[in-house]
Amino acid sequence: MHKRTFLKSITLAGLSLPQLGKAMSNNIPVNPIGDALIVANDESFWKSVRSLYKLKPDYINLESGYYNMLPEETLNNYLSIIKEVNYHASFYMRTRQFNERAAMNKLIAQFLGGSEEEIVLTRNTTESLDLIISGYPWKAGDEAIFAEQDYGAMIDMFKQVGKRYGVVNKMVSVPNIPKSDEEIVGIYEKAITSKTKLIMICHMINITGQILPVKKICDMAHKYGVEVMVDGAHAVAQIQFNINDLGCDYYGASLHKWLAVPLGVGVLFVKKEHQSKIWPLLGENDSVQGINRLNHFGTNPVHTYLALQFAINFHNKIGAANKEERLRYLQQYWTSKIATTPNIILNTPTDAQRSCAIANVGIKGLKPAEMAETLMKKYQIYTVAIDGAGVHGCRITPNVFTSLEELDKFVNALKEMAA
Ligand SMILES: Cc1ncc(COP(=O)(O)O)c(C=O)c1O
Repeated sequence: MHKRTFLKSITLAGLSLPQLGKAMSNNIPVNPIGDALIVANDESFWKSVRSLYKLKPDYINLESGYYNMLPEETLNNYLSIIKEVNYHASFYMRTRQFNERAAMNKLIAQFLGGSEEEIVLTRNTTESLDLIISGYPWKAGDEAIFAEQDYGAMIDMFKQVGKRYGVVNKMVSVPNIPKSDEEIVGIYEKAITSKTKLIMICHMINITGQILPVKKICDMAHKYGVEVMVDGAHAVAQIQFNINDLGCDYYGASLHKWLAVPLGVGVLFVKKEHQSKIWPLLGENDSVQGINRLNHFGTNPVHTYLALQFAINFHNKIGAANKEERLRYLQQYWTSKIATTPNIILNTPTDAQRSCAIANVGIKGLKPAEMAETLMKKYQIYTVAIDGAGVHGCRITPNVFTSLEELDKFVNALKEMAA
């Protein structure tokens, strides 16, 4: 029996969800019962999951890191809900919209294991985290810490508050293959001074897929009275966790990544005790209190938020534990085959607690951009080149629809290119 803490499976029952007409559902052998580590290589189950996607035949998609394509079921239900909202038009916007959005908020709070009072839907990770960085009550000379491997949009916002309020930014670097959790915790701890207010860390570093020891970093930072903001863009619905167990102060993620919600849905968690001190990004409305105070609530594509329920349904049908173990299995399947191949450099730790679907691989003497181009042009394998912050290679991101045959083709391509 494997020992990871599993998020309690959530149910959609008990929530007053939008009346959507007839939501479509495919018949897959749902949520196989048993140890997820065994389900991870049940190829007939994963073949049936693959059949639920409309995949392009032109190339092998190993770039699910940007966003996860929707299975046909979610896509069709999303299209129906767009029509439904359009049909009721302004009447919908002035009446049903509010309760139905609130129901989605409740769903994502349940999904993350947190409280509705601390979680709100946004458009994406950038909006969630930049809202905190820009709205933090900075004073000149305050210090912030983040890593060069963090996402550019957040680093840009730290630079902006540096210019605007005199915040001093300290950039650390996380090793691609760390020796221990303590090594990583120590890197952040060394950068703390009496002026440090906020540390930003990635739950999973996007360019390598490395999972950081979030709880240990938060516990260390809190000893110094420093708050921690976590970038969970890649963690939500790829790996299982309960948001309260992380011990962080702020958490932002994009749900169009691993939860496969249509493009443009994110989430923000702010601990209750911090909510009132953060300035909203857009004009504050005095009648809106709590975490909703932080969320810009102008007219927006509400149907996209409503599609959250279909995405969670699909995720639960596969099973969160089954999905996580399958994704890790796929990554370990290909990384183990090239581990000792000359000229190949793996930039991701492969032990189970440090990575899942995503890994990054480089080839000695080959620029990442050339590597990605050759993979696509010669082998019809789509990846993304990463060339910076100490990471030089292609990010490889399989998904639940990826087959072992596709990974075999990728491994053969890598070996040919490295030879
Ligand atoms: C670690 C990380 N943070 C933030 C983002 C930004 O996500 P979004 O563009 O959905 O805001 C990404 C996008 O890939 C990411 O990988």
